[in-house]
This record gives sequence, C-alpha cells and structure tokens, in this order.
Amino acid sequence: MSENVKLRVKANGSIRVTGTVDFVDADGNILETRTDFSLCRCGLSKEKPFCDSSHKGGAFIAGEYEPKKD
Ligand code: FES
Repeated sequence: MSENVKLRVKANGSIRVTGTVDFVDADGNILETRTDFSLCRCGLSKEKPFCDSSHKGGAFIAGEYEPKKD
C-alpha cells in the first residue's frame, strides 16, 4: 500500500512535509527515515535541509508559489 506524502509550502517559511519519507544517498542506501517534518527553503537554517525556525526573524520573504501549468 502506498501512502501519499503531502508538501505544504508555508508563507514566508518552510515546506511542511506530512507523511513518512526515506532519505536516500546516491547509491540508493536509506540514510534516515523521518515522519512529519519541515524543510528549510530560506537558506538560514543551521540544520539544513531541515527548518530550525531561523526564518521567523523576518529576513525571509518568499515569492508567490504558482503551480506549473501544462
Ligand atoms: S525555512 Fe525555516 S529555517 Fe529556513
């Protein structure tokens, strides 16, 4: 059974991942498995690729997200 993983882009913040994800290296080895976490998209986190809430200082203003149209 396959479960959908949801990515929610938060305004001026992280990408919230809901679900379980395997982090895999270039050789296909699972490095880590995480459930329900946030990815940094501001570049300020000291725990990249994960969000450490550094974006909350107001230094990050994201552009609008527009889904790709076919
Ligand atoms: S988005 Fe939260 S620290 Fe970058």
